[in-house]
Amino acid sequence: MSVHTRSDLETLRADGLSTLHPPGLRIGVGMATCGLATGAGDVYDALRDEAAARGLDLMLVATGCIGYCQQEPLVDVRVPGQGRVLYARMTPERARALVAALARGELPAEGALALIPENQTSKVSETSEVLPGVPLLSELPFYARQHKIILRNSGLIDPARVEEYVARGGCQALAHALLDLSPQAVIDEVVSAGLRGRGGGGFPTGCKWQVCRDAPGAPKYVICNGDEGDPGAYMDRTVLESDPHSVVEGMIIGGYAVGAHEGTIYVRDEYPLAVERVSRAVAQAEELGLLGEDILGSGFGFTIDVVRGAGAFVCGEETALIASIEGGLGEPRPKPPYPAVSGLWGQPTVINNVKTWASVSAILARGADWYAGIGVEGNRGTVVFSLVGKVANTGLVEVPLGLTLREMIDGVGGGGLDGKAVKAVQTGGPSGGCLPARLFHLPIDYETLTQAGSIMGSGGMVVMDEETCMVDVARYFLTFTMDESCGKCTPCREGTRAMYEILTRIVEGEGTLEDLENLEEIATWVKAASLCGLGQTAPNPVLSTLRYFRDEYEAHVVEKRCPAGVCRALIRLEIQPELCTGCGLCRRECPAGAIHGESKEPHVIDPDLCTRCRLCHDICPVGAVEVVR
Ligand SMILES: Cc1cc2nc3c(=O)[nH]c(=O)nc-3n(C[C@H](O)[C@H](O)[C@H](O)COP(=O)(O)O)c2cc1C
Repeated sequence: MSVHTRSDLETLRADGLSTLHPPGLRIGVGMATCGLATGAGDVYDALRDEAAARGLDLMLVATGCIGYCQQEPLVDVRVPGQGRVLYARMTPERARALVAALARGELPAEGALALIPENQTSKVSETSEVLPGVPLLSELPFYARQHKIILRNSGLIDPARVEEYVARGGCQALAHALLDLSPQAVIDEVVSAGLRGRGGGGFPTGCKWQVCRDAPGAPKYVICNGDEGDPGAYMDRTVLESDPHSVVEGMIIGGYAVGAHEGTIYVRDEYPLAVERVSRAVAQAEELGLLGEDILGSGFGFTIDVVRGAGAFVCGEETALIASIEGGLGEPRPKPPYPAVSGLWGQPTVINNVKTWASVSAILARGADWYAGIGVEGNRGTVVFSLVGKVANTGLVEVPLGLTLREMIDGVGGGGLDGKAVKAVQTGGPSGGCLPARLFHLPIDYETLTQAGSIMGSGGMVVMDEETCMVDVARYFLTFTMDESCGKCTPCREGTRAMYEILTRIVEGEGTLEDLENLEEIATWVKAASLCGLGQTAPNPVLSTLRYFRDEYEAHVVEKRCPAGVCRALIRLEIQPELCTGCGLCRRECPAGAIHGESKEPHVIDPDLCTRCRLCHDICPVGAVEVVR
């Protein structure tokens, strides 16, 4: 079908509703990269084959990320009139048992993580009636504080069917913007909402659009930045995999607002599923006439190209990204001029992050006042984090800005992994800093995180505990930025290397107190003198760890000790004879052949052969291997 009018949209919506709320069973399997990596593909096949074998009529859907990545594979069973049940850590075997139970008209309790009522009258709102003891999703600590705007459809819709996106309110914003509002009124709405760019810097989106709209020159362009190269971050990938339509819709609205008729989605080629799903979303929008000439009869035309990036971190920087789209070397250039004035092919260009675009469509659909009512003064709306590291609950989390770090880590994250105390959190990826637990009362907002020595970044949040060495962490991020520095400017190219060499000396037990002073001086200099954000922020992990964890640096250089027991040159592994049962596991597994002992007799580690890989410590069933720090 083609969609030329608002009533065509209604028809499309009805199509989507018929699959989103079918008369029979609907089972969604979280099949974003996180789900697929844990075996969601096999679970999907098992559900399909078992349903076919039993002649059970059900609608099986590959959805995007359901959020609680640690509990993957996740399966979402919707029973009409009863609501939905979320099953965790599904296996093909349990998937077959699930279908067998459903065929008998039952819902199995095994693996049921949470219940989701469809409405007030659905049976799962009275949990005891359906599955006694299984909590409501909104009661799970992981979900309780979340507010999903950017991820509003993630894990719910089939990302391959724009109809389902429309059924959940998609494209209403587009119709409103194109048919009811002037381009300036759209910009005013985004300004009033208080939306700030979710790519890291937090620049006010409406202001950027205004600059582009007012800039002389045509054609103008809009770009979606889906490069996302931070280690440990996967928010943008997930949005593109799970709800690409929200990004497409946001970009058309943005194009209309600034006077652009061409858009580019730049996504790294290392994200093949995101490339596939966003390309399909663009193709569907083209087929329906939601992209192309005269969209919804408004007279406005817009097209989108998908460009695959080769996967260099610096290509996420806007001027480097533009150079990369133009076919040039992915290197940043000095600013100003900013892309809003002179961007792609030297023309005025708005470049926004994936999550920023996904927010735009929500804002235009529900209004600036609604959005501005979420978050805190100056930091409106929600932010998506990939919460990872030494934390009990990991996954993709969307919370209102202004939530404290403690609410995030202890509340959503459930505290340290295995009950261990959390020592620090790193936000902002390699450009961010490490904040100690004593600062967890701080709210998550752009200014507070920057003042504390970190940055909001694009949404990576890595939690660390007492077994994390902060010097080693700083060195890890420096390794990344040093490798990813494009080398164009000397401070970044040489400065990151110099810092890396000092950090290497320190973790190898060769550091001096003078090294600490030099490290601080070089870091300050690299920050001030680098050409682009990569070099300007690369010292953050070093400076923040020096600021908050100087005692750990001093233990390395003065006492030649790694308090966390991580740095190989500064630790020793010893088997405690009174605990060792002589099971021989460590002897068999040791890659260096450094462990000796008779069966059922205490074993011994030869320090000359031991490489201090800690494998014996990690696998010993009775905890007999001690890390001597
Ligand atoms: C080294 C470096 C890497 C960056 N990587 C990304 C990225 O992967 N995604 C992104 O949206 N912004 C990234 N940025 C920020 C962009 O330059 C730009 O500010 C952003 O795309 C603007 O979108 P926003 O206003 O919606 O945040 C990066 C910046 C630097 C300095």
